[in-house]
Amino acid sequence: EKDGHDWFMRKEIFEQPRAVADSLLGRRNASGLLELDEMRLDDSELRDIDRIIIIAAGTSYYAGMVAKYAIEHWTRVSVEVELASEFRYRDPILTRSTLVVAISQSGETADTLQAIRHARTQRSKVLSICNTNGSTIPRESDGVIYTYAGPEIGVASTKGYVTQLVACYLLALYLAQVKGTFFGDEIHHVMDQLDEIPQHIESVLAEADQIYKIAREHVDATSVLFLGRHAGYPVALEGALKLKELAYIHAEGFAAGEIKHGPIALIEPGLPVFCIVPPRGRDHLHDKMLSGIQEVRTRGARTICLAELDDETIAPYADTLIGLPKVPVLLQPLVAVIPLQLFACELATVMGHDVDQPRNLAKSVTVE
Ligand code: F6R
Repeated sequence: EKDGHDWFMRKEIFEQPRAVADSLLGRRNASGLLELDEMRLDDSELRDIDRIIIIAAGTSYYAGMVAKYAIEHWTRVSVEVELASEFRYRDPILTRSTLVVAISQSGETADTLQAIRHARTQRSKVLSICNTNGSTIPRESDGVIYTYAGPEIGVASTKGYVTQLVACYLLALYLAQVKGTFFGDEIHHVMDQLDEIPQHIESVLAEADQIYKIAREHVDATSVLFLGRHAGYPVALEGALKLKELAYIHAEGFAAGEIKHGPIALIEPGLPVFCIVPPRGRDHLHDKMLSGIQEVRTRGARTICLAELDDETIAPYADTLIGLPKVPVLLQPLVAVIPLQLFACELATVMGHDVDQPRNLAKSVTVE
């Protein structure tokens, strides 16, 4: 049942190319327009949406953070992302033109469910992104985008997360189509780029042994930091969460630009710091990241840099370099998260932990 893998988690990591492909399947109709069948919200309702609030917990929340970059960039609709457990307790301002998007792999997370119930009493429309057909959250939503990861058994979310990202991109593109902020050929172009993601993930997985080796070099680590910028920032948070929950090692993710406002004081010789390097582009993201890496390295950090395969600017500052396929910055989370999942899985394994059932955790959190 684990397809020869030692853990469900590892099996699920390796299923990600298939999970992404399935979640993209059949989303374009014969005339090339995006169609999301379970959407159930009319285009006219969506056209009136002027604000989006994404609510979720844990890894799903980090998927929501990535969604914000894509939705705002492609649709010019303002997006807030909030933890479900915080949302309800601050008396949020919701109107008929607010779309609430709940992201939940299980569809049963109590805080997320209570949050959408609250949103509906305020007459906001609720759309859910969910992996579990017939679960409570999609049943209580106005519309759903299902992900097709298949059952996720490992407590730590992996294929659930990448397919949530896919659903977020689909939602962003669909809104752009409805609102006319994106022309048909631009939507096609991004969909074509998404269709290439499964093979890109495959190429990252083909280098799993390199990541396992790096993981085995870190069995004595007591703290690991993760730095990212832009869409790489939520990936840093996700990498840190995977390490905490599986290896029980202190880990923190930071926005790279924030470290000089405090966290840089944590850097001491030998501290492992993962750095997620944005693709080189016309913006300054890449160069800004490079200077962040230099700052921590000067202070003795051991840098493990995830960067485009042919990005030779990083080598001088990387103690370890992990190559990533060339994809646009907004889609980079889909490939950049894979080495971080492999790292946490392998490190937890060599430390002798139960990867599928980490201590103190449950697969779905049905208490508030
Ligand atoms: C982490 C993890 C959790 C879940 C969170 C939300 O690996 O799995 O953080 O992401 O409990 O669960 P869902 O998506 O089912 O609402």
